Amino acid sequence: MCEHDQKGVTLWFTGLPSSGKSAIADRLYEFLKDRGYRAERLDGDIVRQDLTRDLGFSRADREENIRRVAFVAKLLTRNEIFVLCSFVSPYREMRDRARRTVGSFLEVYVKCPLEVCIERDVKGMYGKARAGEIKGFTGVSDPYEEPLRPDLVLETDKEPLDRSVDRVLSRMKELGFLE
Ligand code: ADX
Repeated sequence: MCEHDQKGVTLWFTGLPSSGKSAIADRLYEFLKDRGYRAERLDGDIVRQDLTRDLGFSRADREENIRRVAFVAKLLTRNEIFVLCSFVSPYREMRDRARRTVGSFLEVYVKCPLEVCIERDVKGMYGKARAGEIKGFTGVSDPYEEPLRPDLVLETDKEPLDRSVDRVLSRMKELGFLE
């Protein structure tokens, strides 16, 4: 039983590794589920253990990763679900393609200076990338193309997690996705 008359939307969180994408999406997911909304998460680290476990981090593999995820997000979105996608998705073109695939789509740029992401290094991967142990690591030895016209920018070095989550909720309200 669903209490809400929901319209589906995909929230696409993009940003450097350790910028805070997953933390924001996870908190938002809990908030929405607690209030009876239908929501699902698609997160790079988890999806890559299953749906896209055959893929690496070349440009072509990242594109294929995002292509498959956008297909799933489309199916969920058209069934009036809030889909929270957290993927580095470093190329503008792949994000624009995901938007075209899904339709109801908000690009959320999780913005954080590289130096701060390197300091955080949540999974210890920047250290390895900087030591040359991981090749083609986004931000170190692979590009990240900043969104040019994101629907929302969250500056995670300047605001606490709760504030970022509130800002996503406000935007969803403004656009009529939340009551
Ligand atoms: S994407 O580029 O295809 O969108 P995705 O978000 O699925 O990437 O996966 C990124 C996660 O994979 C990072 O959080 C990090 O833990 C891990 N990872 C492993 N190798 C790399 C790499 N070369 N570049 C970026 N992330 C990597």
